[in-house]
Amino acid sequence: MTAPAGAPRAPYRPLLTEDQLAHLPANHPLRRAEGEIRANTASSPMLLALTGRGNQASHRPVWFMRQAGRSLPEYRAAREGIAMLDACLTPELAAEITVQPVRRHAVDAGIFFSDIVIPMKLAGVDVDIVPGRGPVLSSPVRTLEDVRALPELEDSALDVIREAIAATVEKLGDTPLIGFAGAPFTVAAYMVEGGPSRDHLRPRTMMHADPQAWKELGAWAARTAGQFLRAQIETGASAVQLFDSWAGSLSEGDYRRYVQEHSAASLAAVEEFGVPRIHFGTGTGELLGAMYEAGADVMGVDYRLPLDIASQRLGGKVVLQGNIDPALLAAGPEVLYPHVDSVLQAGSAAPSHVVNLGHGVPPTTDPQVLTDLVSYIHRKTARTV
Ligand code: CP3
Repeated sequence: MTAPAGAPRAPYRPLLTEDQLAHLPANHPLRRAEGEIRANTASSPMLLALTGRGNQASHRPVWFMRQAGRSLPEYRAAREGIAMLDACLTPELAAEITVQPVRRHAVDAGIFFSDIVIPMKLAGVDVDIVPGRGPVLSSPVRTLEDVRALPELEDSALDVIREAIAATVEKLGDTPLIGFAGAPFTVAAYMVEGGPSRDHLRPRTMMHADPQAWKELGAWAARTAGQFLRAQIETGASAVQLFDSWAGSLSEGDYRRYVQEHSAASLAAVEEFGVPRIHFGTGTGELLGAMYEAGADVMGVDYRLPLDIASQRLGGKVVLQGNIDPALLAAGPEVLYPHVDSVLQAGSAAPSHVVNLGHGVPPTTDPQVLTDLVSYIHRKTARTV
């Protein structure tokens, strides 16, 4: 049995201290001086809420997972004739696509336009994203030999990401950029299956049947995710999110035994910077505590679990993000707004609340619904000073 990823840490561990910020370049958006043309992001509503000081923000911040993407006509136009992974690896295009939803919806952060498979692609793994299906590998990784043959991600291969991030934060000004990586389990699930799957049977079999292969694959995915996150923070991301989209297929026991240490390693790789680390999964109501203990600062909650219950499960001490049900975006305002009110109400149970969906924006979403929703949330939570 592997060692637990560390005892639950004290809440309100201070973030963004001078010591931590000293690890970032002087022109990083979290550091650059007020009064510069582009003021810094440290006192934006998003960073205030992510660091547990939402009560000092002018309103409750909001961003949407998959806010950049097919719901936007300008995205579809920009992507015309360009394959998904090529778009991710063209810095100016990735920057432009990242900024599109910020311009249109006035959300409080950009989420870097990239994909969880980009680090493996940059390491040299033959992976593609098949439209309407998702990531597909030409050779699934199923044995210890397969794992040991995986190429290491060279730091210089991340230069294209650094360039994209630098171009993005230049455009975003004082709106923070959230970087991200796929968590080791979710990434490994694609690698072992060779493509998307419903129940993630192969990776779940592998962790029990061939724990050594699983351990080495988890460690590879954790290292790679850590490098990807570091590159994004060093060049301008003001927060990061670790997406463990498929962790909800695991029991808590298996999560703690086979997965937690790897997610903890990815998060620990960027701890020194002190930027908020959001940890998100779907169907992970039973894993909230274990995922928090992996080293998160903020927990993303999907739409299945009301935020007040999530907060209670975490002892009332953890900043939460979530969790408007994406299905209700298409249900009409009479249904959507009462639901949003209940999410805002339940989110008040946490020390601070970052509003988001409980999973990504469906591609069929009418973008006006999102624009109106952002404006409603901003008005409804505005603090009069
Ligand atoms: O706003 C954002 O969130 C943009 C950045 C982003 C993308 N993918 C862009 C993307 C992020 C953070 C991701 C993460 C990602 N990728 C996850 C974790 C988040 C989640 O949704 O659970 C996962 C599981 C993937 C793997 C992946 N990539 C899938 C399952 C798909 C869908 C395939 C399809 O065509 O339906 C992708 C492709 C993808 N990633 C798209 C976008 C905008 C759609 C591609 C397109 O527009 O053609």
